[in-house]
Amino acid sequence: MINTVGVIGLGTMGAGIVEVFAKAGLSVIAVDGSAELAERGKGFLEKSLGRAVSKGKLDEAARDEIVGRVSFGDDLGAMKDADLVIEAVPERLEIKESIFTTLDGIVREDCVLATNTSSLSITEIARATKVPSRVIGMHFFNPAPVQPLVEVIRSVMSDETLVEQVRELAERLGKKPVVVGDRAGFVANALLVSYLARSIRAYESGLASRSDIDAAMAAGVGLPMGPLTLCDLVGLDVIHEVCGVLYNATGDPSVASPSILRQLVTAGRLGRKSGHGFYTYDGVGSGTVVDDAATTAPAKPLEGKVGLVGEGDLVDALGSELSDAGVEVVRVVSADDAASLKGVAVTLAVDAVELDGDCCGGGCCGGDDASHGDVESGLEIGAKPVLRAVRDAIGDAGVIAALGEGSVETASTGDPTIDATIVPVVLHEKQRAGQVLEIGRSVAISDEAVETVRSLAAAAGWTPVVGKDRAGLVVDALLYPHLNDAAKMLDSGYATVEDIETAMKAGCGYPQGLFELLDEAGPDDVHGVLSEMHFETGEQHLVPSPLLTEHILADRPFRN
Ligand code: CAA
Repeated sequence: MINTVGVIGLGTMGAGIVEVFAKAGLSVIAVDGSAELAERGKGFLEKSLGRAVSKGKLDEAARDEIVGRVSFGDDLGAMKDADLVIEAVPERLEIKESIFTTLDGIVREDCVLATNTSSLSITEIARATKVPSRVIGMHFFNPAPVQPLVEVIRSVMSDETLVEQVRELAERLGKKPVVVGDRAGFVANALLVSYLARSIRAYESGLASRSDIDAAMAAGVGLPMGPLTLCDLVGLDVIHEVCGVLYNATGDPSVASPSILRQLVTAGRLGRKSGHGFYTYDGVGSGTVVDDAATTAPAKPLEGKVGLVGEGDLVDALGSELSDAGVEVVRVVSADDAASLKGVAVTLAVDAVELDGDCCGGGCCGGDDASHGDVESGLEIGAKPVLRAVRDAIGDAGVIAALGEGSVETASTGDPTIDATIVPVVLHEKQRAGQVLEIGRSVAISDEAVETVRSLAAAAGWTPVVGKDRAGLVVDALLYPHLNDAAKMLDSGYATVEDIETAMKAGCGYPQGLFELLDEAGPDDVHGVLSEMHFETGEQHLVPSPLLTEHILADRPFRN
């Protein structure tokens, strides 16, 4: 039975792990490299428990009891009494190996040596020690006191009895363990950090602003925070290191550390812990963002009425939503009424703009070169007489927000005066953090038209997200490759659907697992958009997993 644990390294993760053990009633020997660092670790623990006391979630006596279970110091020799020692030192193999080989001469023979490494090889760390069978991965997630996931990682040399003991310990801590083998990034980081790296690259390439990328995933998908905010929470140095490990293991360029990330790390901008990262914070260790040069101006207030074109339940619901938000709406269902739109600031056209040609522009075709080569896709403004009448009524300068069903990119009408004022938009489902209206921006569309649509979104209470007019826009372009990665991991036999769902929900606070999201979006839609993205960029990681095709052909969801 594990009752006394040692924790080495008392930074963000180490101090969090100390708190988890001490709260569960275990005796903790907490050690860092110097008396100052040990004192800093004690400070982290007291601050975190102090927050709980001030919220009334813990009384002072309980806090003192928890702190009393921990002895802080800078002497590794104190680990002689530990049943299990876990290290949470920086992600460098040589540091971890050196600590474990030192521990070989200190700890008891039956002591388990655990590493909280985010992605380094447990096998390599174990190989450097005297008794490799007792080295096991025990990977916590940030913030350790909050996230329930613990990945328990075995190497081929691990003693299975000890693996089971560590799994039981994780359960005793109130955590959700997932036991897996030793692969770069394990389950959660292999999926999460790949998605983070691609999000950083999307930001770097100007797909969307940093706040729009974050809003796309928080308010658009419902994730607890956007990817760039999350990078700042975890630490850019950590993300950079994990990217390096993933890239070395897979050779996939999409997971290599993006240039902007490397620059920020070199500049010492490590995220919240240094007060600067993708965002600027009001102090070191703070999570409160302050404005800086990259802050985007909020949408200007919408001046004037909004036209609403189309019919059906969706249009009715949009009409009510806009009216409830205090927007004056002019509704038009037939060409005969279009004249009433004269003078409106912007017209939201639902299903009134059609793509010309056989191709869906995004979802339905296989995306192979041959099929795309023949298609002259374009907006057919005359396809619906009502839209032609709208255009005549509002004039060439009037802005039309063309609401599409999914992540369809638009193409040109071939008429520059019209192209400049037709803006493709996609309205996503409402999430806890808001409801996203994605707005496509292209060289053909005027900045003024995009700004007008942002104002419409803000007036309606939606969160505007402006992205380059590419397959998947922003939300699907970031989400679908993430879902594809999950399908590929499942297909590789490394983890089960259940493992992957637990890892992302319990480790990263996802309200839904990746397969739940995949089933909801529909494997065919995901496959279609990925194919289109692959057609546009040629990037190998966008090739849909064969397992997606299998599920489409069998018409079977991933979860039953
Ligand atoms: N330490 C301790 N507790 C914390 C905390 C911290 N750093 N940050 C937040 N909390 C607590 C709060 O006190 C609050 O507790 P109560 O409910 O008891 O009051 C609770 O967490 C919720 O916090 P907030 O209300 O302030 O904010 P929130 O609801 O937005 O949640 C969050 C914050 C828990 C961080 C949430 O946004 C989230 O889950 N984000 C995703 C984090 C994630 O993905 N983590 C995994 C990163 S990858 C990793 O760690 C592995 C690796 O190897 C790199």
